[in-house]
This record gives sequence, structure tokens and C-alpha cells, in this order.
Amino acid sequence: MTAMKGRGHSLLAASVIMLWVFYCNSVAAAAPARLAISCGALGVQLRLCQEGVEAWSRQTGTPVKVVATPNSSTERFALYQQILASHSPDIDVFQIDVVWPGTFAPHLVDLSSYIDGRFTQQFFQTMITNNTIDGALVAMPWYTDAGVLFYRKDLLQKYGRSPPQTWQQLTESARIIQNAERAAGNTRMQGFVFQAKGYEGLTCDALEWIDSFNGGTLVNSAGKVTLDNARAAAALDLAASWIGDIAPKGVLNYDEEASRGVFQSGNAVFMRNWPYAWALGNAEGSPIRGRIGVMALPRGGDQGHPSATLGGWQLAVSRYSRHPALAADLVRYLTSYAEQKRRAIAASYNPTIKALYQDQEVLAAVPFFGTLYDSFEHAVARPSRVTGSKYARVSAEFYYTVHDVLSGKSAAAPALAALQKKLIRLSRGEQW
Ligand code: GLC
Repeated sequence: MTAMKGRGHSLLAASVIMLWVFYCNSVAAAAPARLAISCGALGVQLRLCQEGVEAWSRQTGTPVKVVATPNSSTERFALYQQILASHSPDIDVFQIDVVWPGTFAPHLVDLSSYIDGRFTQQFFQTMITNNTIDGALVAMPWYTDAGVLFYRKDLLQKYGRSPPQTWQQLTESARIIQNAERAAGNTRMQGFVFQAKGYEGLTCDALEWIDSFNGGTLVNSAGKVTLDNARAAAALDLAASWIGDIAPKGVLNYDEEASRGVFQSGNAVFMRNWPYAWALGNAEGSPIRGRIGVMALPRGGDQGHPSATLGGWQLAVSRYSRHPALAADLVRYLTSYAEQKRRAIAASYNPTIKALYQDQEVLAAVPFFGTLYDSFEHAVARPSRVTGSKYARVSAEFYYTVHDVLSGKSAAAPALAALQKKLIRLSRGEQW
């Protein structure tokens, strides 16, 4: 009897558990999936992201929250690090920088389990390789970037100057036009604006100066630090000479948007920036609409070569997402040919699908995608692959040093020699 009673109790308990499990499952099934995507908000980025996401939501019936992030790549990195380290499921899809796949790979889903190989084949294979870490495709390339030089066609013409082929020619033309315009009453005119705030953007600009002087790429592909050399120092010395001459002192605090603000309001002759600035500068209501030229960045003297830093953003799915298959489908949709085409035409975001550079509608909207194709294809990578998870530290040490040189706190040669030593210590002798 007692035994019967015991069995009765356990039967009852088992049924309650089963009912509870059944209830939980049906609640989970009934609760509609919701996704959250974190997109950049620079320029018109957030609106573009929202439009793409809404189109996917309409097709799939899945609501998606769009979360804006800080403009600075450095700040965004810190934020994502926090979110991912806490294994939070709050954000399903992250927009990640081209230099982050190595660092974030442990927190990201292998997209090749969800996205067909034929889809992936349309992309530039160097980008797919960049995003493949230990055999896992941790992100899909969304748009690519390379530094370009924007100039005021009307001002160069007015003063009979041709587009500069070397940094030295840029310095001279910027000075002549800036001073003449100021003398004529436009006291706010600046010769050259770029990104010299202490953040990831400065790493991009300074890598271009140094590489264009044949001064190397900070750390070479074998992991050797290459900063301590005379050509790198010459590049930084020239850049330091711009501050207070052809560039305002305030440039030491400029990011992409601050430089664009000055250029787009008509107050700069030259600007180094990413392609997105073109569509905005030519938008209705822009004071410099139709007066912008775009070209490859100058060489470092006659012996140098034009160099553009490779930038760009990828879409990745968090390992902590509760809906990885749906999230991967959103990534597939946003990186598709049609969606990239829309973004290229509307806002000059460089596609990551090769065929889009032959698409006549894209080329008509953004002619320099055709004329500067080589700059985009041969853009120089920051040393994120070889330095792996130490990249953020390497870049920060580099931009701090460059910022000191630009602000006149130290001369380039000794600053680079000290930085070289520091980075070698950090690398433990090329073994990053
Ligand atoms: C652009 C680039 C990105 C880079 C950042 C630096 O957004 O696409 O790769 O890290 O600028 O500011």
C-alpha cells in the first residue's frame, strides 16, 4: 500500500513536470521571434539599415529592433566587447569592423552552416578569407571602404592647380588656395582636413601616409614590427607640419564626420575620407554639390606609391542569439546583390560583391567606383590578421604615438623607435 502510494506520488510528479514542459514549449513556440541588429549611425547609415531591415521584416513577418551604436570604431569595439563578454542574447546581429573578426570569432556563429556556398562565391574572396577564422565564416562582408581624396574641383580650377599626385604637391596647393581664399575674405577656409583624433581612424590615415612613403605597414605579414624607419618618420614629419598650416589645430580632434562637416560646408580644399562622403556632399542642399572631385590619395614623393587603407564593415551573428537561423537569414538578405545595389546608389557604400562594380546603374550613380577600382582592390590592410586579438592594443599604441607627433609633443623618429620597442615587447618576438 505504501509502495503504491509512493508510485502514485512519483507518477503525479512526472505528469506535472510533463505538463510544465509542454506548457513552456508551447509558450516558446507561440512567442513570435524578435531580432535585434546593431548598425552604425554615421551619415545616413541608420536610415539605410532601417529600410533594409524593414523590407526583410515584411517578407518574413519577423520584427527587428535596430540599435544605433557610437560612430567611433574604437568606442563601438569597447561596447561590443562588453555585450559579447557577458554572453548577452540581446543583440542577434552585429555590424563589425574589418579588423575585428579575429578578436570576436569565439562569440560568433559559423555562417557557412546557414548561408549557401554559391551565395558566398559572389563576394571578393579576400574579404571572405578575412572573415574566415580557423575555418569558420564568422561574418559576411556588407560594404567595403578605402581612403580616398576629395577635392574642390572649382577651387583647383580657379587657381590653376591640377589634382595633386604627391603629398608634397597637396601641401603646396592647399596652402596657396587656402591663403588666397582667406585673403579674399573667406577666413574660415582650410587647406586639408582628415581624421587625427586619437582613435582607429587615425591609424587608418597614418598607415596611408607611411605606406605611401614606402615606410611599411606597421607590422608585416610575418609579424615583424616595421615602424622604426626613416621613410615612416618622414611621412609623419610631413603630416605634423600640416597642423596649424594647411589644417586647423582642431583636426587633432576630428573624426570622419567632423572632417566632412568642414568640407561639406565649403570650408576646405581637400579632405581625406571614405567613399560615403561623396553621396552626402552631392546631396540636394549640400553647398558643394557638383563641385567635388574624387581621386586616389597622393604618393609619398616621387619614389612613393598611392596607398589607401582597407576599411569596411561586416555582419555577424552572435553565438548567444536565440534565433541564429533567422538572424543568418537577415544577414543574407542585407548583404544580397539587390540590397547592396540599393545602398551603393543611395549613399555610395562600396559593394562587396564583385559584379556590382560592373553594374551600369551603380556606375552611373557613383562613377568613381569604376575609375578608382584599383585603389579599392589593392587597399592596404591594417595588421589585424597577424596580430590577432592584440590588434586593438597595437592600433591604440600606434594612434597615441602618431597623435603625439602631430601635436608636436615628440619628433617622429624617436617616437617611432620607442613604439617599435614597445610593440616588440607586446608581440613577444613576432609570436603574436
Ligand atoms: C571606417 C572604416 C573602418 C575603420 C573606421 C575608422 O568606418 O570602414 O574599417 O576602422 O572607418 O574610423
